[in-house]
Amino acid sequence: MKYYRFLLPAFLLLSIIGRAQTKLTSFSPGAIWPDDKGVHINAHGGGILYDNGVYYWFGEHKITGDAGNRAMVGVHCYSSKDLYNWKDEGISLSVSPDATNDIAKGCILERPKVIYNKKTKKYVMWFHLELLGKGYSAARAGVAVSDKVTGPYKFVKSYRPNPGQMPFYPALTPEGDKVNCVNPATETDKFFCRDMPGGQMARDMTVFVDDDGKAYHVFSSEENYTLDLAELTPDYTGHTGKFIRIYIGHQTEAPALFKRNGIYYMIGSGCTGWAPNAARWFSAKSIWGPWTYHGNPCQGPDSKITYGGQSTHVLPVAGKKDAFIFMADKWTPKDAIDGRYLWLPISFKGDDIEISWMDNWNLSVFNK
Ligand code: GAL
Repeated sequence: MKYYRFLLPAFLLLSIIGRAQTKLTSFSPGAIWPDDKGVHINAHGGGILYDNGVYYWFGEHKITGDAGNRAMVGVHCYSSKDLYNWKDEGISLSVSPDATNDIAKGCILERPKVIYNKKTKKYVMWFHLELLGKGYSAARAGVAVSDKVTGPYKFVKSYRPNPGQMPFYPALTPEGDKVNCVNPATETDKFFCRDMPGGQMARDMTVFVDDDGKAYHVFSSEENYTLDLAELTPDYTGHTGKFIRIYIGHQTEAPALFKRNGIYYMIGSGCTGWAPNAARWFSAKSIWGPWTYHGNPCQGPDSKITYGGQSTHVLPVAGKKDAFIFMADKWTPKDAIDGRYLWLPISFKGDDIEISWMDNWNLSVFNK
């Protein structure tokens, strides 16, 4: 029949219109977030690198079911110029089919973050790594590098940072505040001393590049009791041995760092696995501390559970003053791939921060 001839052109036209309509102009925290192919973005526990006018979002690629809590594929990358619409750039770091490889398929590879090293011109990816079949006992930091932002990244090594090193203490730190491995005072000090010879445990993590080009790795250590902030080597692929312990004994996870007006800020969570808890924030005038604890930055209903999410990154919006986006994951461990993203603007009250829930918002909130 003749009218069949119109079906294909009509279908093509409708799908073009459909695509134009799906161009996003706002954020809807917690909703399905379709990429350029209409597929929910798969980049959990992620972070964003702004590079040559483009944002690159790296995160854990999850699969369906609870198997999705392990790394079956690798680290997924997306790119965007406007932060609302994301193009699928594919897998930037793949797990290995070799079961003896550190990043073997089925291992746990979490919270990947990428930074760019201006001197070496390499993109450096850090992540939390748990070896295949060993649960969460390995507690290692892993690193991979690439010449191209989207990858493929080449796995370099994984290890526990800073073996044989004592923490750095800023001048005037009272002797009583320093860890004493002859007679450790607390549980967390005992874990620190136990692990000193082989390196400190490294789980939930982020990396941060300061204005002077120095990079830092911040990670949950000492059986998750204490957060370490450690300096990376000039090429960003190793640790120098200089580090501090932050909020000792209080179980901080999911750290995210940013800097505003010369002040360092960190947002993190408590330690309750996939279940949400209250966020916490800290600030410091020097990266080496002292870091001051300020409690929960979230306000309003569900603020005690971070609206169901857990921090993963704070994104400075390029070209806008005081524009920082709090990025959190709403985990769905029974069907890991369905995890949602909660992005919310951070507001400043002087040097203090606040986060409030918004069903829908766009970057114009930053035009004050
Ligand atoms: C969370 C952590 C996640 C993941 C999870 C496993 O507390 O932030 O990255 O490790 O525990 O239970």
